[in-house]
Amino acid sequence: MSVRIGIIGAGIMGTDHARIFAERLSNVEIRVICDADTARAKKVADQFGIIDVSTDPESVIQRSDIDAVVIASPDSTHAPLSLACIQHRKPVLCEKPLSQSSNQCIDVMNAEIAAGRPFVQLGFMRRFDQAYAEMKTALQNGVLGRPLMMHNFHRNVETPSAEFTGAMAITNSAPHEFDVVRYVLGVEYRSISVFQPKRSDAVVAPVMMVLETEDDQLVNIEINNNASYGYDVRAELIGEAGSLSLNAPLYSALDAKLTHRTEYAADWRARFAEAYWRQNRAFLQFVTTGTFPEIASHSWDGYAAAMVGEAGVRALKDGSRTAIRLIEKPLFYSKLGV
Ligand SMILES: NC(=O)c1ccc[n+]([C@@H]2O[C@H](COP(=O)([O-])OP(=O)(O)OC[C@H]3O[C@@H](n4cnc5c(N)ncnc54)[C@H](O)[C@@H]3O)[C@@H](O)[C@H]2O)c1
Repeated sequence: MSVRIGIIGAGIMGTDHARIFAERLSNVEIRVICDADTARAKKVADQFGIIDVSTDPESVIQRSDIDAVVIASPDSTHAPLSLACIQHRKPVLCEKPLSQSSNQCIDVMNAEIAAGRPFVQLGFMRRFDQAYAEMKTALQNGVLGRPLMMHNFHRNVETPSAEFTGAMAITNSAPHEFDVVRYVLGVEYRSISVFQPKRSDAVVAPVMMVLETEDDQLVNIEINNNASYGYDVRAELIGEAGSLSLNAPLYSALDAKLTHRTEYAADWRARFAEAYWRQNRAFLQFVTTGTFPEIASHSWDGYAAAMVGEAGVRALKDGSRTAIRLIEKPLFYSKLGV
């Protein structure tokens, strides 16, 4: 039996999800693509042979011929649409972040708990990346000894719009790092401090965060949305007995004119192509079996990321080291995943 999917959002990520389901996975059929902009939805429908287009996400979620939903519309739509999916008992792969408001994340958790099973798999796909997986395995095997520090760099060519702010770097870009670091280390954060250097122009400057974990480790995260040279994600985990750093997949290097040259991708899709594919494959298994994928992010992880983001925005504003105080983790989520 094919899983019948509705995709909401036909922008960069919605198109990429459609491509992965249409070209790289089997036993799945994209029944409808929905976007506020009909022309965008039609373009993706034509590209991947999707029969139906829609401009109304709620009606897509309610359709009886849809088994599962992918939400790839803007951040502010994620929590309300996830709630609609839970109400209609449709498993949903929701792009990150679940919400930028921790209260909205609590609403989603409460709805899932009331429904008696998880429905929301979050798009924190770095958990499915081979390099981060090897980092976690090295830690679990004891090769690195006790973890002390983790350095993280997240660089984009340029911001998607001139209105992008330092606060948005924390609430929109950094949640990937907030999530994958707490996943690798298996611990929550205690506090966050945020710093910004001064640029010579008007675009948003890098945001540098220092977080302390509940196990007294230090985590630094650089988000540089205007790095100009390429998409570049790096991380190094330093333990008492060794350290492990990520390698980005590289398929070729050019040697010519006394130089050795490799190239950067313009965005995240190439660097994390395998992770997106593994994530979407896990989502199809979740839809088919009802068993939540062991390593995927769920609503609690979305809540934890939102709490760090909220504290980070306060820390950026008032320049102080800001405490992160999570609510008690519901047993419902302690039983899920890792
Ligand atoms: N997992 C990742 O690595 C990753 C990477 C980039 C973006 N994202 C997330 O994915 C989401 C989409 O990002 P994007 O880069 O594709 O943005 P985008 O602007 O390219 O696409 C968003 C699309 O949603 C449509 N839209 C807006 N409101 C809508 C609504 N109410 N109902 C239906 N469609 C609506 C827009 O018309 C647009 O086509 C964002 O939440 C973003 O944070 C995740």
